Amino acid sequence: MKKIIITGGAGFIGSHVVRQFVNKYPMYQIYNLDALTYAGNLENLRDIEKASNYTFVKADITDERFIHELFQKQQFEAVIHLAAESHVDRSITDPLAFVRTNVLGTVNLLQAFKTLWQNNWEGKRFYHVSTDEVYGTLGETGLFTETTAYDPNSPYSASKASSDHFVRAYGETYGMPYVVSNCSNNYGPNHFPEKLIPLCIHNIIHQKPLPIYGDGRYTRDWLYVIDHARAIDDVFHKGANAETYNIGGFNEWQNIDLVRELCRQMDKVLERTPGESEELITYVKDRPGHDLRYAIDATKINQELGWAPSVTFPEGLAKTIEWYMNNQEWLNNVTSGAYTDYYNEQYSGE
Ligand code: NAD
Ligand code: DAU
Repeated sequence: MKKIIITGGAGFIGSHVVRQFVNKYPMYQIYNLDALTYAGNLENLRDIEKASNYTFVKADITDERFIHELFQKQQFEAVIHLAAESHVDRSITDPLAFVRTNVLGTVNLLQAFKTLWQNNWEGKRFYHVSTDEVYGTLGETGLFTETTAYDPNSPYSASKASSDHFVRAYGETYGMPYVVSNCSNNYGPNHFPEKLIPLCIHNIIHQKPLPIYGDGRYTRDWLYVIDHARAIDDVFHKGANAETYNIGGFNEWQNIDLVRELCRQMDKVLERTPGESEELITYVKDRPGHDLRYAIDATKINQELGWAPSVTFPEGLAKTIEWYMNNQEWLNNVTSGAYTDYYNEQYSGE
């Protein structure tokens, strides 16, 4: 039985990746290692937690001794690394937390994997899950390709860029087999409500202001999270060694248009008067260093690995709204306590 460790599996994307691998590959033993920070939630995995090919390990990827001992003991043949501090706004207030987890944590995993297999790389793979934000920002036109130069602008994207470089360095220097993917903005079930779409769904339900940074004309390329999990499956199994694959939804939206669309759909679901939720839209101060536009050219993964999104944006948004409406207890649980402190701090004075 092949042993695979997935890091960050209790988070938003990680939980969908863990589910995909546990259900689809009974011949793999999946270890989910997660520190359960504010963003990690074992509720996300209730449906598969008793599967015979699944084990949860609560640990911090920066814990050098623990990670090394775990790798020695379990002899993982592959790592799928998603654990990270992932929210740009938090990186602006606390950059060091991002350096610790995203840079030091990644190097710690690389080092443990190298120590384990350095004389026997055959059949091993370190898969690093990264973001399109490493490429910086686009103007009004153009797309990020795999050869776009790195140009990160936020402490979050700088830390992810740094970790991408370390993964490549371990490949070049020690011959570690690796693959990297850089994906655009995900949305879907289990998305923590600090991020734009779930934050707005939460606030529409509770009739709270919908904070739009700056003029709202910033553009993101949205992909349904389950399609990202499918892409990760494809890259892990079929991606060429030492390659990068960009993953995106071919689905660009300006924030203000996206939030208006959400309002329209939520008014219907909540049986409110059309236009009622739009009145909650509130323009607030801009994010410092705010990247204007992200958009992915996903031709390579499409042509080489045969991947394409399976869920259209209208379908995905409807499924997402339905999930949040049916899981308001999940939403209430994650927005109590520390979330309130974060929210008040982030949106103070608005
Ligand atoms: P998330 O914040 O929802 O989840 C991160 C998970 O990592 C949580 O379960 C958390 O507990 C865990 N974690 C954090 N620090 C840890 C540590 N020190 N040790 C062990 N576990 C730790 O993030 P997400 O949105 O699911 O993103 C997952 C990965 O995908 C990240 O690497 C992110 O950079 C990347 N990514 C995210 C998006 C997106 O739109 N969300 C897009 C492209 C790439
Ligand atoms: O592109 C991939 C990245 O997408 C991932 O690497 C990150 O982990 C993920 O968080 C996401 O980053 P963004 O900064 O694009 O996502 P966020 O949901 O925070 O913001 C989306 C856009 O909405 C962005 O232009 C900022 C804006 N925004 C966000 C919030 C939280 C607002 O206007 N108001 C808000 O309250």
